[in-house]
Amino acid sequence: MAKSIILAAGKGTRMKSETPKVLHEIYSKTLLGYVIDAVNGTELVDENYVIVGHQAELVEDYVKTNYTNSKTVLQSPQLGTGHAVSMVLPYLNDYKGEVIILCGDTPLITSETLKTFIKAHRDMNSDITVMSAVFDNPTNYGRIIRNADGSLNSIVEEKDATPEQKAVKEINAGIYCLNWEKIKDAFSQLKTNNAQGEYYLTDIIEWGNKNRLKVNAHILANNTEIYGINSKLNLAEATRIMTKRTLEHFMTEGVTIVDPNTTWIDPQTEIGKDTVILPSTYIEGKNKIGSHCKVGPFSHLRGGVTLDDYVKIGNFVEVKKAHIKSHTNACHLTYIGDSEVGANVNIGAGTITANYDPLSKVKSKTVIEDNVKIGSNSVLVAPVTIEEGANVGALSVITKNVKKWSLAITRAPMRVFEDWVTKRLNK
Ligand code: UD1
Ligand code: CA
Repeated sequence: MAKSIILAAGKGTRMKSETPKVLHEIYSKTLLGYVIDAVNGTELVDENYVIVGHQAELVEDYVKTNYTNSKTVLQSPQLGTGHAVSMVLPYLNDYKGEVIILCGDTPLITSETLKTFIKAHRDMNSDITVMSAVFDNPTNYGRIIRNADGSLNSIVEEKDATPEQKAVKEINAGIYCLNWEKIKDAFSQLKTNNAQGEYYLTDIIEWGNKNRLKVNAHILANNTEIYGINSKLNLAEATRIMTKRTLEHFMTEGVTIVDPNTTWIDPQTEIGKDTVILPSTYIEGKNKIGSHCKVGPFSHLRGGVTLDDYVKIGNFVEVKKAHIKSHTNACHLTYIGDSEVGANVNIGAGTITANYDPLSKVKSKTVIEDNVKIGSNSVLVAPVTIEEGANVGALSVITKNVKKWSLAITRAPMRVFEDWVTKRLNK
C-alpha cells in the first residue's frame, strides 16, 4: 500500500479568517476532509501524513478526531513545499513504495482521478509522475517545461519564469506520485536559489532528470478537480462546482431536480429514483431520501434525515435527525427534529417538535407512530410519544404521551358572543 503526504501548513492569508484554511467547509465537511476521503477512497493508500503549521493545533485535533489512518507532522517555520515534504523523512526512512503528494486545499479531487493517476504512474514504470493540466489562463501556477522530444524537463514557478515559459499553458496541478526509495534523497539536497527563497518541491523534477530517474507528467482530464481554495470567492466557486457535479449525478440516477440553479445538496446525501426536488431546497449532511419522494420548494434538511419512499416535505419545513416512514406528509411550515415518524402520518402546517431544552441543553426524542394526524400549529414537547392512529387537535401543546386511536387537544374551547360587534357599533 502507498502512503500520502498532504500539504496543509500554509497560512491561507487571503481567506481573511480566524479558521485555518483547510478547516473551512463545503456543506458539512472540511476542505482537508474531502482530500483525505478522496485519498482513502482509492483504497491504494493506507496511511496519510498531513503537514501542519499555521494554527497547527486545530488541524491536528481535526485529523485526530476524524481519521484513524492519518498522522499530522509539524512544519515550523514553513520554508516551502519541498521543505514541507522533507518533514516526513524521519517517518518514512525505511519505507519502500509509492508516496502520493497532494495539497489540503483542493477539495474537488476525486478518488477516480487519483486511481487513474496512480495507475498511469505504474503503467509508465515511472519514478516521479506529476499531474498536469492545460489551462487557458495558467497565471500563478508552475509551468510544465518539456524538452523538444516531449519529455519532462522541469517545472518553473510563475515568479521565476521567462516570458516564453509564462506562455506555456500546461501547468503543475500540485499532485505527485513518487517512487519514494529513489526520490527521498532529493529532499535533503533542495536549494532556495529562486525568486521566493523557498525550498520548492517542484525542483525534484530536475533532480530526477539529473539522477537518471524516470520522470513523467500525466495530463488531468477534468480541470476543475484541482481547483484550489485561496479566498472566500474560491470557496463559493468550489461549492458551486461540487453542487453541479452532485446534481448531475442525481439526475443521471433518475432524480428530478426541477431547478439546479437554486438547489443545494450535500454530496454525502443519497436520493432514490423518481424523487422530485423542487426549487430553493437546501440539503446538508448525510441524509437518505427514498424513491418517489417530493422535497421542496424551500425545504431544509440538516443531516441525519432518513425519508422512506413516498414522503412529502414541503415549503418552509426543516428536518434534522429524523426517520420519516413512507407516505407521510409534512407540507408546510414545520420543524421536525430528533424524531421517529411512522408511515401514513399527516403533520399539519406549523407543527413543531420542541426537542431542545436550552437550560439543560438536553435534546429529547419525539415518536409519532403510524397513521397519526397532527393538527396545525401544534407543539409536541419532547420526550413524547403519539401512539398509533391518535389525533392531535389543532393548536395543541402536547406534553404527555397520547394513547393509540385517541384525540388529544389542549386548545381553549371556542366561545361565540352573538351580535357583539353590532352592539359595540351602536354604542
Ligand atoms: C505550488 C507549486 C506550483 C503548482 C501549485 C498548484 C511549488 C513550489 N509550486 O505553488 O508549481 O502549480 O502549487 O496549486 O510547489 N505548504 C506547506 N508548507 C510550506 C509551503 C506550502 O505545507 O512551507 C502547503 C500550502 O499550505 C498549500 C500547498 O503547500 O496547501 C501549496 O503551497 P502554495 O504556497 O499554495 O503553492 P503555490 O505557490 O500555489
Ligand atoms: Ca506559494
